[in-house]
Amino acid sequence: MYKLVIKGGKTLNGTVKIAGSKNAALPILFASILADGPLKVNNIPHLSDVSTTLRLLMDMGAEFILESDNSLHIDASKLTKLTGEYSLVKTMRASILALGPMLAKYKKAKISLPGGCAIGTRPVNLHLKALEELSAKIEVKGGYIYATTDQLIGTDIHFEQVSVTATENILMAATLAQGQSTIHNAAQEPEIVDLANCLISMGAKITGAGTAIISIQGVSNLSGISHSVCPDRIEAGTYLVAAAITGGKITLKNARPQSMQAVIDKLIETGADISYGKNSITLDMKGERPKAVNIKTSAYPNFPTDMQAQFCALNCIADGQSAITETIFENRFMHIPELSRMGAQLTLEGNTVICKGVKSLTGANLMATDLRASASLVLAGLAATGTTTIERVYHLDRGYETIEEKLKLLGAQIERIQD
Ligand code: EPZ
Repeated sequence: MYKLVIKGGKTLNGTVKIAGSKNAALPILFASILADGPLKVNNIPHLSDVSTTLRLLMDMGAEFILESDNSLHIDASKLTKLTGEYSLVKTMRASILALGPMLAKYKKAKISLPGGCAIGTRPVNLHLKALEELSAKIEVKGGYIYATTDQLIGTDIHFEQVSVTATENILMAATLAQGQSTIHNAAQEPEIVDLANCLISMGAKITGAGTAIISIQGVSNLSGISHSVCPDRIEAGTYLVAAAITGGKITLKNARPQSMQAVIDKLIETGADISYGKNSITLDMKGERPKAVNIKTSAYPNFPTDMQAQFCALNCIADGQSAITETIFENRFMHIPELSRMGAQLTLEGNTVICKGVKSLTGANLMATDLRASASLVLAGLAATGTTTIERVYHLDRGYETIEEKLKLLGAQIERIQD
């Protein structure tokens, strides 16, 4: 196991290249199951969740070649095994995204129930109910989902709750269903638009992706094509907060500001100066202490839950009191006890944390618990006086590509060492 050791207090300045989006790359890799031939996916991020997805697809018979230019050739058109094993699924919940494509293409799937994780129970009831409405027969026993269908039949799907991966599962399944499907109360994240664009290039007939109503006209087959994954808006937001929390100036290359408006608006509210170039964003904090900002997470295009922990770290050293309310997940405050050990003044009241900003935090030995909570601990360590160590860094590696290398390039004093 590895840990990160950060010597805090350095102002971050410079330029960093944003990688492809984890939450777009994962569904797009599962979409390769739908194709009649190999898919070429460009701008693939080097993340452990991508490696887990490739291991799961390889275990089912897919073949792939990862090129040095971050492009991946994947052929999942002739799967020899239609089971997603627990040993692989338990490490990455997004494996549930194999279900829709396997049902659509092979009419059969056996996928381990993903189970919960640190941030919540993470049920999949919305996925299963919608697939049954598309004429799948679903049985859950022994920790596995058994799904079969003679043929998926298009229909109207009404999600009682917005769900990103449930929208993606049904979107993929409906591309090969018979007839028309319409998804109501669909998630609107940019990653869904990226997935839809990839499916459309493969020959799918989809309109409305990125809105609450997505229409899909089923087709008989989809072809392998080439697609480039959109930039990771959460990685981008995390680095902007790194500049804001250390009073620095950072330019992000390969970023897409139009998919980050809610986060950018909040950063401007902290007093950051934001400017834009072609596919780039620059944040300049001019050495100023950020002002405290109130946050309430909700579905896109509103403030993303995946940026909540990072803004909690920022508010810890901001000028003033703030309230952060988490409305998406029931347990996404695992960073609070760790930040409190650094001297943060945080009080949890239900699904809201009240923060009284302090002038500075003190480095401490910390434990990472989940992907975005770990990112908030890194951010706090960058700003703190003294040394911070963060154990169980594997949580970070799920969603951040070589985070210590990118932070070093920006002037951080950070090392990854063996435990
Ligand atoms: C996706 O998770 C993202 N993961 C998450 O990113 C992100 O935080 C989340 O969407 C935001 O909504 C990927 O895209 C791989 P949901 P997902 O279904 O799809 C409840 C990260 O840090 N729900 O949109 O699993 C659920 O419990 C990760 O990159 C059901 O009740 O989230 C939650 O309260 C973390 N039943 C709410 O809906 C279901 O069948 C929204 O969850 C499905 C979801």
